[in-house]
Amino acid sequence: MIINGPNLNLLGKREPNIYGSLTFTEFLEEVIEKYPQVTLDYFQSNIEGALIDKLHEVGFSYDGIILNAAAYTHTSIGLGDAIKAIETPVVEVHISNTFAREEFRHQSFISPNARGVILGFGLQSYELAIQSFLQ
Ligand code: DQA
Repeated sequence: MIINGPNLNLLGKREPNIYGSLTFTEFLEEVIEKYPQVTLDYFQSNIEGALIDKLHEVGFSYDGIILNAAAYTHTSIGLGDAIKAIETPVVEVHISNTFAREEFRHQSFISPNARGVILGFGLQSYELAIQSFLQ
């Protein structure tokens, strides 16, 4: 399950110098073709509670969750607690290298509860997360 947080629905249009010019749907189509052995579901929301609800919904039955909580990464104790509460392992991803950006992006409420963190490789961060589950 790939879960994207706020503003990631605007990928392709949003600050392309940081996040690239591909839409997430275009990227996902490529990935689905490349990994036919993997069943990939996708969910995006701009609403913190909806992201928590989705983690609860899939977090006891799916093999893995790839989560880019976007700005909520840096603010949401609720999302951090949700990851602690579920059984499915979560890999945290970010498109940009958050440590090379503003100080407030260096804090993550996701990382302490994640199986691992992959960041800074553009959309390839998601693909590396898929590979981590396959291995
Ligand atoms: C992001 C990094 C966050 O700091 C930012 O708020 C985002 C995207 C990334 O993928 O690089 O919206 O999670």
